[in-house]
Amino acid sequence: MSVDIAGRSFLKLLDFTSDEIRYLIDLSADFKRLKHDGTPHRYLEGKNIVLLFEKTSTRTRCSFEVGGMDLGMGVTYLDPGSSQMGAKESIEDTARVLGRIYDGIEYRGFGQDIVEELARNAGVPVWNGLTTEFHPTQMIADMLTVQESFGRLDGLKLTFFGDARNNVANSLMVVCAKLGMHFCACGPKQNMPEPELVSTCEEIAAQTGGSVTLTDSVEEGASGAHVIYTDIWVSMGEPAELWAERIRLLSPYQVNAAVMGMAADDVIFMHCLPSFHDTKTTIGADISKRFGIDEMEVTDEVFESSRSVVFDEAENRMHSIKAIMYATLK
Ligand code: CP
Ligand code: NVA
Repeated sequence: MSVDIAGRSFLKLLDFTSDEIRYLIDLSADFKRLKHDGTPHRYLEGKNIVLLFEKTSTRTRCSFEVGGMDLGMGVTYLDPGSSQMGAKESIEDTARVLGRIYDGIEYRGFGQDIVEELARNAGVPVWNGLTTEFHPTQMIADMLTVQESFGRLDGLKLTFFGDARNNVANSLMVVCAKLGMHFCACGPKQNMPEPELVSTCEEIAAQTGGSVTLTDSVEEGASGAHVIYTDIWVSMGEPAELWAERIRLLSPYQVNAAVMGMAADDVIFMHCLPSFHDTKTTIGADISKRFGIDEMEVTDEVFESSRSVVFDEAENRMHSIKAIMYATLK
């Protein structure tokens, strides 16, 4: 079946069919081979893209920059606070200006409504590099990583531990439903995804052979899982005052050796990164001093273990972002 998403924006995976998502995963694998073989792939020479960041980033920014340059494009980076958007110029006007100058626009920031409004007004593809609600480019990299480990996606159980209502957990629930996987959110009841999104994903999963489970039982979440995934307990844009409550609520859902021991024999550990698995960061050191814990969502032992594929996952961000840009701009 031929898939063509040229000219489309990439805002959330609910907008894409299962075949379109599979096409992007396979295209990412193709770009990975080209990069590893040293084969040039400047397929988008002469085009230009702009990266609009209202939050900080390492992986997403670098992947768009290097991905764009490998494809032969010019790349402009606008860092948090350095454009006129918001304070002096509306989202709609910013979109209309950037759309006249660039062939594609990446946005990382706050509400999903902002990236949707940019896309409605830009006249060129807009890519969501993370909003409060979703992180869709991360999902293509993650599913490529799972496919590399298991040779397949459908039928696998992926359990997200911790703050299961954040952008990464929401997006994992959608992508698993679309790909016929068994998604499990494991955390306290207060940190579960919105019921409306859960219902939508349940309906999708019913069509694809997947399933959606929400549980506060660590045993149920870990049991038989092929992928154990976690993310930071307080996301960008959330107030630092939330740390005390989140540590109290989410500590029982830390991914540690006991949790990994309950999973499938060939389980892999995944994390979108960055991660608080030690105290080698200013926030990690501060939390350690204030709350007396040296590891948060994952122990250093699991993070550094042979089951952990987090750096393959990080590398795959670049190959998959390149695939998303190519497929929508070609
Ligand atoms: N995973 C991820 O989006 O990383 P950055 O915040 O560094 O872009
Ligand atoms: N949930 C995290 C993901 C970072 C890549 C955040 O939004 O900060």
